[in-house]
Formats: sequence, C-alpha cells, structure tokens
Amino acid sequence: MTELKNDRFLRALMREPVDVTPVWMMRQAGRYLPEYRASRAKAGDFMGLCTNPEAACEVTLQPLERYPLDAAILFSDILTIPDAMGLGLYFETGEGPRFKKPVRTEADIRALKVVDPHKDLPYVVDAVSTIRRELNGRVPLIGFSGSPWTLATYMVEGGSSKDFRRAKTMAFNQPEVMHQLLTVLADSVIAYLNAQIEAGAQAVQIFDTWGGALSHAAYQEFSLAYMQRIVSGLIREREGRRVPVILFTKGGGQWLELLADTGADALGLDWTTDIGQARSRVGKRVALQGNMDPTMLYASPDRIRSEVGQILASYGSGSGHVFNLGHGITPEVDPAHAGAFIDAVHQLSATYHQ
Ligand code: CP3
Repeated sequence: MTELKNDRFLRALMREPVDVTPVWMMRQAGRYLPEYRASRAKAGDFMGLCTNPEAACEVTLQPLERYPLDAAILFSDILTIPDAMGLGLYFETGEGPRFKKPVRTEADIRALKVVDPHKDLPYVVDAVSTIRRELNGRVPLIGFSGSPWTLATYMVEGGSSKDFRRAKTMAFNQPEVMHQLLTVLADSVIAYLNAQIEAGAQAVQIFDTWGGALSHAAYQEFSLAYMQRIVSGLIREREGRRVPVILFTKGGGQWLELLADTGADALGLDWTTDIGQARSRVGKRVALQGNMDPTMLYASPDRIRSEVGQILASYGSGSGHVFNLGHGITPEVDPAHAGAFIDAVHQLSATYHQ
C-alpha cells in the first residue's frame, strides 16, 4: 500500500505529535457543494450515488479537491444496514429517510439476520477499496456506521422521529425484544466495519446520533453497552498501523468517562461541551474530536475564525485534538465559509504544537 503523505489525522487520534491540528467535517461531501448536487442529479438520487462505487468515490473526493482537509470519509449512509436487512430504505424529498417495512413486533425482530457485508452490502466494500485506491495516500480514509441504538430508532419508527415514541416504548415495555434487535445490529456493525477496514478504511467512526435522547440509565443499557460490544469486536491494527475507533454520541457530553472506558481511541464532541473541560475529564485516555457549532458557518469568516481560535485555546497545547464541527455541515452553508473554517484551524493551531 502507498505511504500516507498526510497522516496528521491518524497521529492526532493516537495523541502523537503533529505540526498543526488536523481537520475534517462531518457530512463534508454533501448538498452545500454545487459539484455534489450535480453528481447527485447525474446519479438520479442519493441512493444511486451510494450504490455506485465510482460515483461514491467521486463525491468523497470533491471536498478534498476544494479544501486542504486532513481526512476523507466514505460516502454512504448509516441506514445501509437496515436496508440490507430488507426494510426497504427510501428518501422522501424534504422528509428524510423512510422504511417501507419498519420493525414493530417481536416476530419482525426475530426474523432479522446479521448482515454479511460481502454478500449484502458489496457496493460499500467496493466503494471503500475504490476510494482508497484513488486517494493514493493523500489523506487517510474514514469508514463509519451508525450505533445500534441510532439504527434501531430509525428501524422501529420507520424514519426520523422527534420523541422516539415507538422505539422507547419498546425499550421500556419489552426490553428483551429491544435487546434482541440491538444485538443483531451490533453484530452486523462489527462485520460491516471490519469489512470496511479490510477494504482499506484507516479509522472508523460510530455515529450515535440519538444516544443523547436517552436517560442516564437507559443510555448505558441501550446504547453504550452495544458500542462497547462493537469496540471489542473490531480489527484494531492493519497494515502495521493502529486503526483508531471514534465514538460520537450527540448530546453525550455527560458520559465522556463512560465512553472512554469502552477502549475507544477518540470521542467526538458536539458543541454543547467545552473541549478544554472535556480534556481534563478524560486526560490521556482518549483523543477528542470536535466541536464547533455547525451553525457558526452561517456567520462571517471573521467570526468563524475567532470561534476556531477559542476552541483551540480551550483545548490548549499538545496533540490529541482532531478539529471538526459538533455535527454535520448543513446544506445552506456557503462553501467559502467552510474554506475559512478549515484554513483557520491550520493557521491558528501551529502555535499549540511547538
Ligand atoms: O460525513 C460524510 O460526508 C459521509 C456521508 C454521510 C452521510 N450520512 C451522507 C448523507 C454520513 C456519515 C451519514 C451519516 C448519517 N446518516 C447519520 C449520522 C450522522 C448524523 O448526521 O447525525 C444519520 C442520522 C443518517 C440518516 C440520514 N441520511 C438522514 C437523517 C438523512 C437526511 C438528511 C437531510 O437533511 O435530509 C440522510 C441522507 C443523507 N446522507 C444525505 C447525505 C449527503 C443527503 C442526501 C441528499 O443528497 O439528498
């Protein structure tokens, strides 16, 4: 395999020295980029992009052509796993993701099988190896999946939800049924992420977008326990190098110590947590990724720059910080503002790495 030309993302995740703080953006390939919208129109729709490895590779690389980003992230979606389980994923314009066949009963859940990525999701495995080849060592490639709890909410609700009424009612009234669903999902995520790692993903991130909707006790029982199971089941070294695991629970700032206990290498932070305080809580156990409010990208480039400066100052000197937004970049952002954000991270961070 080609030597990495820029490995500061992987080095920061391992808390090894870097010249400047690495940066990437969740949802960096997406609708705020006109070239993405053109590729999507050519492919027909979003799933058309995901299921065509050449198209997925093209859009993965688009933000890297524009900006000096320090990592690429596979273009796909967390809902490919439930789709492969037969739920029938589709996207209703303006409505977000939907499933034709949500899982609502014990029988529905007992019928689900652990996915075999090579058989059920070959387009994702192929996209990873295509992207890795095309990157040619430019920057590392991140693979990803949803957390079991986050996937379960979409599968039980049949789409997005404000209050997770159906999923939570199942967890409260029939915990053993919910645990059965989460177990099938955790084992599927392990197989899926290991297949991505074997195909060339050099780090992996688990998106626990809805873990923060749970109570303290329910979070540990229904979300954290299954992320722990995944961390324990992942390939951790490949091509002579550590494959770091990043756990991102949106709204999970109060559980950082518990998340660090899983053995993950890094934790993603949303913007509600002060990164300096988070650092003193977790110490040297994990690296931190985050955490500018994505809405800040609507502000002026000067205001974005000062916000980046404040987050860097809060984290302080030394490695162990991967800069990112606290959640995905939104479609209405001006691409020039994303550029100002990325440049500010590189320019203002050098002083913290002397
Ligand atoms: O970060 C990246 O650039 C990689 C690609 C990526 C997408 N989705 C592409 C996408 C990643 C990592 C995801 C993860 C994802 N998908 C999550 C977890 C992360 C998060 O944002 O919390 C969730 C909850 C989903 C499910 C999902 N997929 C939703 C809710 C939507 C609709 C979003 C909306 O605003 O309409 C999607 C569609 C989706 N996934 C798009 C993209 C670029 C937009 C599709 C389009 O082009 O219309």
